[in-house]
Amino acid sequence: MRRLDQFLANLGYCSRREARAWVEGGRVTVGTDTADDPGQKAAAGEVRVDGEPLDHPEELLLLLHKPVGTVCSHDGREGPRVYDLLPPRWQRRNPAVTSIGRLDQDTSGVLLLTDRTQLVHRRTSPRHKVPKVYRATLDRGAAAAEAAAVTALFGAGTLVLTGESAPCLPAALRWRSPREAELTLIEGRYHQVKRMFASQGLAVTALHRERFGDLELGDLPAGQWRELPLDCV
Ligand code: URA
Repeated sequence: MRRLDQFLANLGYCSRREARAWVEGGRVTVGTDTADDPGQKAAAGEVRVDGEPLDHPEELLLLLHKPVGTVCSHDGREGPRVYDLLPPRWQRRNPAVTSIGRLDQDTSGVLLLTDRTQLVHRRTSPRHKVPKVYRATLDRGAAAAEAAAVTALFGAGTLVLTGESAPCLPAALRWRSPREAELTLIEGRYHQVKRMFASQGLAVTALHRERFGDLELGDLPAGQWRELPLDCV
Protein backbone atom coordinates (compact mmCIF):
# COMPACT_ATOMS: atom_id res chain seq x y z
CA MET A 1 0.00 0.00 0.00
CA ARG A 2 1.30 3.43 -0.90
CA ARG A 3 -0.03 6.96 -1.04
CA LEU A 4 -1.66 7.88 -4.34
CA ASP A 5 0.54 10.94 -4.88
CA GLN A 6 3.61 8.80 -4.21
CA PHE A 7 2.48 6.13 -6.68
CA LEU A 8 1.99 8.64 -9.46
CA ALA A 9 5.21 10.52 -8.82
CA ASN A 10 7.39 7.40 -8.41
CA LEU A 11 5.96 5.75 -11.51
CA GLY A 12 6.82 8.82 -13.58
CA TYR A 13 3.32 10.15 -14.23
CA CYS A 14 3.88 13.62 -12.81
CA SER A 15 5.35 15.47 -9.85
CA ARG A 16 3.89 14.94 -6.41
CA ARG A 17 2.36 18.39 -6.53
CA GLU A 18 0.74 17.62 -9.90
CA ALA A 19 -0.47 14.30 -8.51
CA ARG A 20 -2.43 16.18 -5.87
CA ALA A 21 -4.09 18.20 -8.64
CA TRP A 22 -4.83 15.02 -10.62
CA VAL A 23 -6.55 13.47 -7.60
CA GLU A 24 -8.46 16.64 -6.84
CA GLY A 25 -9.49 16.82 -10.51
CA GLY A 26 -11.09 13.37 -10.23
CA ARG A 27 -8.68 11.62 -12.62
CA VAL A 28 -7.70 8.91 -10.13
CA THR A 29 -9.90 6.06 -8.95
CA VAL A 30 -9.36 3.40 -6.30
CA GLY A 31 -11.53 0.40 -7.05
CA THR A 32 -14.91 1.84 -8.02
CA ASP A 33 -14.48 5.10 -6.08
CA THR A 34 -13.08 8.36 -7.37
CA ALA A 35 -10.26 9.33 -5.01
CA ASP A 36 -10.36 12.73 -3.35
CA ASP A 37 -7.39 12.47 -0.96
CA PRO A 38 -3.89 12.37 -2.51
CA GLY A 39 -2.62 10.88 0.76
CA GLN A 40 -5.00 7.94 0.57
CA LYS A 41 -3.19 4.60 0.66
CA ALA A 42 -4.04 2.00 -1.94
CA ALA A 43 -2.71 -1.20 -3.48
CA ALA A 44 -1.30 -0.77 -6.99
CA GLY A 45 -3.80 -3.14 -8.58
CA GLU A 46 -6.83 -1.08 -7.55
CA VAL A 47 -5.58 2.33 -8.75
CA ARG A 48 -6.52 3.73 -12.17
CA VAL A 49 -5.60 7.00 -13.84
CA ASP A 50 -8.06 8.30 -16.44
CA GLY A 51 -9.60 4.83 -16.29
CA GLU A 52 -6.33 3.03 -17.09
CA PRO A 53 -4.49 0.69 -14.71
CA LEU A 54 -1.10 1.93 -13.49
CA ASP A 55 1.82 1.52 -15.88
CA HIS A 56 4.02 -1.28 -14.48
CA PRO A 57 3.54 -0.54 -10.77
CA GLU A 58 6.00 -3.30 -9.87
CA GLU A 59 9.72 -2.90 -10.50
CA LEU A 60 11.00 -3.21 -14.04
CA LEU A 61 13.62 -5.58 -15.41
CA LEU A 62 14.45 -5.11 -19.08
CA LEU A 63 16.83 -6.69 -21.54
CA LEU A 64 17.98 -4.02 -23.99
CA HIS A 65 19.87 -4.57 -27.21
CA LYS A 66 22.24 -1.68 -26.65
CA PRO A 67 23.18 -0.01 -29.92
CA VAL A 68 26.70 1.25 -30.60
CA GLY A 69 26.94 4.96 -29.75
CA THR A 70 24.80 5.00 -26.61
CA VAL A 71 26.09 5.47 -23.05
CA CYS A 72 25.04 3.80 -19.79
CA SER A 73 25.66 6.99 -17.81
CA HIS A 74 22.65 9.04 -16.76
CA ASP A 75 24.52 12.18 -17.81
CA GLY A 76 23.33 13.18 -21.28
CA ARG A 77 26.50 15.23 -21.82
CA GLU A 78 28.39 11.95 -22.29
CA GLY A 79 26.31 10.99 -25.35
CA PRO A 80 22.88 9.61 -26.23
CA ARG A 81 21.76 7.60 -23.21
CA VAL A 82 20.40 4.05 -23.30
CA TYR A 83 17.56 5.32 -21.09
CA ASP A 84 16.42 7.64 -23.89
CA LEU A 85 15.32 4.48 -25.74
CA LEU A 86 12.66 3.77 -23.10
CA PRO A 87 9.13 5.21 -22.89
CA PRO A 88 9.31 8.75 -21.42
CA ARG A 89 7.30 7.78 -18.35
CA TRP A 90 9.82 5.06 -17.48
CA GLN A 91 12.61 7.62 -17.76
CA ARG A 92 10.99 9.60 -14.97
CA ARG A 93 10.57 6.73 -12.53
CA ASN A 94 11.99 6.96 -9.04
CA PRO A 95 14.09 4.95 -8.22
CA ALA A 96 15.55 5.55 -11.68
CA VAL A 97 15.92 2.75 -14.21
CA THR A 98 19.66 1.99 -14.27
CA SER A 99 21.90 -0.47 -16.10
CA ILE A 100 23.19 -3.56 -14.30
CA GLY A 101 26.89 -3.04 -15.02
CA ARG A 102 27.99 -0.94 -17.97
CA LEU A 103 29.00 -1.32 -21.58
CA ASP A 104 31.26 1.18 -23.35
CA GLN A 105 29.77 3.67 -25.79
CA ASP A 106 31.18 1.72 -28.76
CA THR A 107 30.01 -1.68 -27.43
CA SER A 108 26.68 -3.21 -28.45
CA GLY A 109 24.65 -6.12 -27.14
CA VAL A 110 22.88 -7.44 -24.05
CA LEU A 111 22.34 -4.83 -21.35
CA LEU A 112 20.04 -5.33 -18.38
CA LEU A 113 18.14 -2.35 -17.01
CA THR A 114 16.19 -2.21 -13.77
CA ASP A 115 14.80 0.09 -11.10
CA ARG A 116 15.21 -2.61 -8.45
CA THR A 117 18.21 -1.05 -6.74
CA GLN A 118 19.45 -4.14 -4.95
CA LEU A 119 19.74 -5.97 -8.29
CA VAL A 120 22.07 -3.30 -9.65
CA HIS A 121 24.49 -3.87 -6.77
CA ARG A 122 24.05 -7.60 -6.37
CA ARG A 123 24.38 -8.60 -10.02
CA THR A 124 27.47 -6.52 -10.74
CA SER A 125 29.46 -8.19 -7.97
CA PRO A 126 32.05 -10.74 -9.21
CA ARG A 127 31.00 -12.91 -6.28
CA HIS A 128 27.98 -13.85 -8.35
CA LYS A 129 30.15 -15.18 -11.17
CA VAL A 130 27.58 -14.50 -13.87
CA PRO A 131 29.28 -15.46 -17.16
CA LYS A 132 29.17 -12.68 -19.72
CA VAL A 133 30.03 -13.60 -23.29
CA TYR A 134 31.62 -11.01 -25.59
CA ARG A 135 32.38 -11.23 -29.30
CA ALA A 136 35.48 -9.21 -30.08
CA THR A 137 36.66 -8.24 -33.54
CA LEU A 138 40.39 -7.52 -33.69
CA ASP A 139 42.49 -5.18 -35.80
CA ARG A 140 44.52 -8.03 -37.22
CA GLY A 141 44.43 -11.78 -37.49
CA ALA A 142 46.24 -13.80 -34.84
CA ALA A 143 48.37 -16.67 -36.13
CA ALA A 144 47.53 -20.10 -34.72
CA ALA A 145 50.42 -20.19 -32.23
CA GLU A 146 49.70 -16.66 -31.01
CA ALA A 147 45.97 -17.42 -30.67
CA ALA A 148 46.75 -20.55 -28.65
CA ALA A 149 49.11 -18.61 -26.37
CA VAL A 150 46.51 -15.89 -25.72
CA THR A 151 43.85 -18.52 -24.99
CA ALA A 152 46.15 -20.22 -22.50
CA LEU A 153 47.08 -16.93 -20.80
CA PHE A 154 43.48 -15.69 -20.45
CA GLY A 155 42.42 -19.12 -19.16
CA ALA A 156 45.20 -19.31 -16.58
CA GLY A 157 43.99 -16.44 -14.41
CA THR A 158 47.48 -14.91 -14.25
CA LEU A 159 47.09 -11.86 -16.50
CA VAL A 160 47.63 -8.64 -14.55
CA LEU A 161 46.35 -5.56 -16.37
CA THR A 162 48.30 -2.31 -16.39
CA GLY A 163 47.69 -0.33 -13.21
CA GLU A 164 46.20 -3.29 -11.32
CA SER A 165 47.65 -5.74 -8.85
CA ALA A 166 45.11 -8.58 -8.80
CA PRO A 167 45.19 -10.88 -11.83
CA CYS A 168 42.09 -11.25 -13.97
CA LEU A 169 40.01 -14.27 -13.09
CA PRO A 170 40.33 -17.18 -15.56
CA ALA A 171 38.42 -16.34 -18.76
CA ALA A 172 37.50 -18.74 -21.55
CA LEU A 173 38.55 -17.65 -25.04
CA ARG A 174 37.27 -19.33 -28.20
CA TRP A 175 38.46 -18.25 -31.62
CA ARG A 176 35.85 -18.05 -34.36
CA SER A 177 38.36 -16.89 -36.95
CA PRO A 178 41.86 -15.36 -36.71
CA ARG A 179 40.27 -11.90 -36.24
CA GLU A 180 37.21 -12.78 -34.19
CA ALA A 181 37.03 -14.35 -30.75
CA GLU A 182 34.46 -15.06 -28.07
CA LEU A 183 35.56 -14.23 -24.53
CA THR A 184 33.63 -15.30 -21.43
CA LEU A 185 34.22 -13.19 -18.31
CA ILE A 186 32.81 -13.65 -14.82
CA GLU A 187 33.93 -10.21 -13.67
CA GLY A 188 33.59 -6.75 -15.16
CA ARG A 189 36.60 -4.49 -14.80
CA TYR A 190 36.88 -1.17 -16.57
CA HIS A 191 37.28 -1.75 -20.35
CA GLN A 192 38.28 -5.29 -19.43
CA VAL A 193 37.93 -7.03 -22.79
CA LYS A 194 39.77 -4.29 -24.67
CA ARG A 195 42.53 -4.13 -22.06
CA MET A 196 43.02 -7.91 -22.00
CA PHE A 197 43.50 -8.06 -25.76
CA ALA A 198 45.57 -4.85 -25.80
CA SER A 199 47.96 -6.42 -23.27
CA GLN A 200 48.74 -8.96 -26.00
CA GLY A 201 49.19 -6.42 -28.79
CA LEU A 202 45.69 -6.95 -30.21
CA ALA A 203 43.30 -4.00 -30.57
CA VAL A 204 39.54 -4.59 -30.31
CA THR A 205 37.83 -2.77 -33.19
CA ALA A 206 34.27 -3.93 -32.42
CA LEU A 207 32.75 -5.44 -29.28
CA HIS A 208 29.37 -7.04 -28.81
CA ARG A 209 27.99 -8.71 -25.66
CA GLU A 210 26.12 -11.79 -26.76
CA ARG A 211 25.07 -13.18 -23.43
CA PHE A 212 24.61 -12.20 -19.77
CA GLY A 213 24.19 -15.42 -17.78
CA ASP A 214 21.48 -17.33 -19.65
CA LEU A 215 20.06 -14.20 -21.25
CA GLU A 216 20.57 -13.67 -24.97
CA LEU A 217 19.25 -11.15 -27.50
CA GLY A 218 17.53 -13.66 -29.78
CA ASP A 219 16.07 -11.66 -32.66
CA LEU A 220 15.72 -8.42 -30.67
CA PRO A 221 16.81 -5.55 -32.96
CA ALA A 222 19.35 -2.95 -31.79
CA GLY A 223 17.67 -0.21 -29.75
CA GLN A 224 14.76 -2.45 -28.69
CA TRP A 225 14.10 -3.99 -25.30
CA ARG A 226 11.94 -6.71 -23.86
CA GLU A 227 10.66 -7.20 -20.35
CA LEU A 228 12.01 -9.99 -18.17
CA PRO A 229 10.46 -11.58 -15.10
CA LEU A 230 12.05 -10.04 -12.00
CA ASP A 231 13.14 -13.41 -10.68
CA CYS A 232 15.17 -14.38 -13.73
CA VAL A 233 18.46 -12.86 -12.53
N1 URA B 1 34.92 -4.83 -21.83
C1 URA B 1 35.18 -3.72 -22.54
O1 URA B 1 36.33 -3.44 -22.87
N2 URA B 1 34.15 -2.93 -22.89
C2 URA B 1 32.86 -3.21 -22.60
O2 URA B 1 31.96 -2.46 -22.97
C3 URA B 1 32.60 -4.37 -21.84
C4 URA B 1 33.65 -5.17 -21.47
